[in-house]
Amino acid sequence: MKIKSQINAVINQALLEMGILDYDVMVSEASKIEFGDFQFNGAMGLAKKLGQKPQEIATEIVKLITQNSIIAKAEIAGPGFVNIWLGEEFVSKNLEVMTKSDNLDIALSNIPQTIVVDYSGPNMAKEMHVGHLRSTIIGDTLANLFELMGDNVIRQNHIGDWGTGFGMLIAYLEDKGDESQEELKDLEHFYKLAKAKFDSDAEFANKAREYVVKIQSGDEHCLALWDKFISTSLSHCEEVYEKLGVKLTKDDVRAESAYNDDLPVVIEELMGKNLITISDGAKCIFMPDVETPIIVQKSDCGYLYATTDLAALRYRSKSLNSDRMCYVVDARQGDHFKQMFWASKEAGFVPHITKLEHIAFGTMMDKSGKPFKTRDGGTVKLTALLDEAVQKAKDTIKSKDGYDPDTLEHLARVIGIGAVKYADLSVSRESNYIFSWDKMLSFDGNTALYIQYAYARIQSIISRFGGEISGDIIIGSPIEHRLGITILGFDDTLTRANKDAMPHYITSYLYDLTTLFMQFYEQSPILKDDVSVELKMSRLQLANLTARVIKQGLDILGIEVVNKI
Ligand code: ARG
Repeated sequence: MKIKSQINAVINQALLEMGILDYDVMVSEASKIEFGDFQFNGAMGLAKKLGQKPQEIATEIVKLITQNSIIAKAEIAGPGFVNIWLGEEFVSKNLEVMTKSDNLDIALSNIPQTIVVDYSGPNMAKEMHVGHLRSTIIGDTLANLFELMGDNVIRQNHIGDWGTGFGMLIAYLEDKGDESQEELKDLEHFYKLAKAKFDSDAEFANKAREYVVKIQSGDEHCLALWDKFISTSLSHCEEVYEKLGVKLTKDDVRAESAYNDDLPVVIEELMGKNLITISDGAKCIFMPDVETPIIVQKSDCGYLYATTDLAALRYRSKSLNSDRMCYVVDARQGDHFKQMFWASKEAGFVPHITKLEHIAFGTMMDKSGKPFKTRDGGTVKLTALLDEAVQKAKDTIKSKDGYDPDTLEHLARVIGIGAVKYADLSVSRESNYIFSWDKMLSFDGNTALYIQYAYARIQSIISRFGGEISGDIIIGSPIEHRLGITILGFDDTLTRANKDAMPHYITSYLYDLTTLFMQFYEQSPILKDDVSVELKMSRLQLANLTARVIKQGLDILGIEVVNKI
């Protein structure tokens, strides 16, 4: 349930009674506990508009909203802020609704949208790098979130499997025969070897060039080699997906090459709309106020990344009927997407009302603030990175003895992979982010482990209690009130995260929730003998609900929980 919209409605009603129509009320969470539960900051703006004093407007609002039973108290602060406290009955009643609901009473979209989430998108010629890791983690979270909120999600893995580079790679593959299987285990290395041969051996270089043309003209032998190369490379990526536990599958792959037949049509339609300018023999699109054009066909007739992306936009609109498209791609491709989105609408590939979003993210940095690379400047192997995460998690928890090897293995995977994902998701995606093992595997602070640990503690309380949890939720103290309000804010948080495509809203929320729960647990003993049955049940309900919200929240982030750490 959306708590904020219920409060917005109460204020709206008050404004109507004051003769103010058409005002879009938006309350926000109070920044400090002493400011109540929510704040309405609109009185200042309204005062300006109506030529009145903010205090007068705020006073009138306070008078009217406190007549509503859901508002326990309202006060004016500063120049005209309205601080709002919700009534305990409202809080406990809504918490009970949430308890009884299978999906925590998360409101589903009234009109489900079809949303394409374009994420991961590794290049088959090279090893998948940390940028693709970020895209994979953020994209998967957004896809899970949209799905949970009732939208129809189509995951698209736009892998780079076409282009001139593949001529060299398949020529080398053929050259090496069976030996290549071993060398292919490290694509980065394979690429370097092929390139070295290309640079030093003229005959090989000629063959490589010839093979480019042959793949493009559908030569069977070359296509078979290409196919073999792509499937080996893709299986490396699948290993990463598997380790990460993301939901991307083979069925979500729609590679660049899938659009080959559409490319001439795209050019033709662009010409038909007079969007093409020929410059130095190349077909270009000039976007107003942007100096560098988009090149869609080179003078040698070859197509480019942009052409394929326009074809993909067209396909996603016309064939997938997408209402919203989210491109989870490195921020450095910002200009590319600005131009793509503009051109696809000008060309009529995508209707104007379709929401096209570049979900940009920053660069992953090492501790010294440099882009994350191996010591010799190469690409960090992602499977090795994820294995290291699991190993480090194992070291972190091994001291807590008493695990059999299988349990330890499972636990280390849940914690290690959870740590990598959470660390990535918990920074505002647009910022660059500093990769630090120590920070991400800490039991304290805004980490997955802190939250997973709280979850396990709650499970242990519930299992120690052993019985069935039932009865009323009684809000008896300020910390219970705060915890209750925070639990109720889950749906509002998801809605905001959905609208802005910002996973870190969810992590911040889970961190706050967990911290509040820990405070609550310290102040409100649950299983002690001197706690009355009613209070025990009420606190167990709060604990159980907290755990359910944590589990659901982490599930959106693709992070698992365990009952014991
Ligand atoms: N392969 C691209 C890269 O590594 C990412 C693809 C993103 N998706 C897209 N539709 N352009 O930069």
